[in-house]
Amino acid sequence: MTTPVNVTVTGAAGQIGYALLFRIASGAMLGPDVPVRLRLLEIPQAVRAAEGTAMELDDCAFPLLAGIDIHDDPTVGFAGTNVALLVGARPRGPGMERADLLEANGGIFGPQGRAINAGAADDVRVLVVGNPANTNALIAASNAPDVPKDRFTAMTRLDHNRALSQLAKKADVPVSQVRRVTIWGNHSASQYPDVFHADVAGTPGATYAREDELWLTDDFVPTVAKRGAAIIDARGASSAASAANAAIDHVRDWVLGTPEGDWTSAGLWSTGQYGVPEGLVSSFPVTSSGGAWQVVEGLDVDEFSRARIEASVAELVEERDAVRALGLI
Ligand code: NAD
Ligand code: LMR
Repeated sequence: MTTPVNVTVTGAAGQIGYALLFRIASGAMLGPDVPVRLRLLEIPQAVRAAEGTAMELDDCAFPLLAGIDIHDDPTVGFAGTNVALLVGARPRGPGMERADLLEANGGIFGPQGRAINAGAADDVRVLVVGNPANTNALIAASNAPDVPKDRFTAMTRLDHNRALSQLAKKADVPVSQVRRVTIWGNHSASQYPDVFHADVAGTPGATYAREDELWLTDDFVPTVAKRGAAIIDARGASSAASAANAAIDHVRDWVLGTPEGDWTSAGLWSTGQYGVPEGLVSSFPVTSSGGAWQVVEGLDVDEFSRARIEASVAELVEERDAVRALGLI
């Protein structure tokens, strides 16, 4: 039998964890022939709940599930891990701003970065889901000096999927016919969902944007950018199933590659692409091949888009400066 891939999920007893673990174990993330060993990492108070989830995982008798370990110590939880999904964080409640979360969550991701640095497998790939995801990824990466920076990513795939869905509704086409939208910047309300390079069943996304600028500015952009808050208002809790689905999409594409002729969005450590300062974790249009992300370069970015990208990147700079001042990076 193939050696199982070690997948560590933090916050395993939380809402996203519950929506995520069963799909990983079923093969939805790494493929139908790849066995996985799940490492559930929780805080001590939630270990019992994680044990309950582990019982349910056992009860599914997933053929690909090679084992489940439960930990409350990051050093042990990340030892030898190949894929690390950093979900555990404090979710935003009604009325709470993301900036309030920086201090509360920053302390979690430093120790986790150090534990990954100390013991993860050489091929480790890290996806940060817990908010503020981009800056938490920056903290984790900064605390893992021996791990290449391109192994730390932040999740903007949910925003990407939201943009696909909203654009498909506008054009009245199946979502499968929408390609090449982009999320730029931060996973926050400042993000810029960009339709200008999209292909919508053969029609350029720019056509929809130019023909109906009010739709773009007053409907599409705010609907996508504020969707997380709208779901919190409606559900009384942060998105969970759609977030877990996006995490599956992100890792699957990272490991197995993106489809020919399409791209997706991911928060990556900037090396200066599109003027985004080096060392910020910012969302870009990306493809994946050979198990690595590549930023799609050379897109024309007009003044309208440029201003919005810069505004979101400015927020990332502020977050970076705030965590730097707190001594977290
Ligand atoms: P939740 O409160 O249901 O679960 C969080 C879990 O994390 C809890 O079980 C908690 O015990 C655990 N946890 C806390 N600190 C931990 C630590 N140091 N180590 C391990 N586990 C720890 O929250 P949720 O709904 O699952 O959401 C998790 C995070 O994901 C939140 O920050 C939320 O804002 C974020 N989120 C991100 C996106 C995105 O698109 N990037 C989308 C939705 C939610
Ligand atoms: C989402 O986009 O649904 C979440 O990131 C919202 C949040 O703040 O938890």
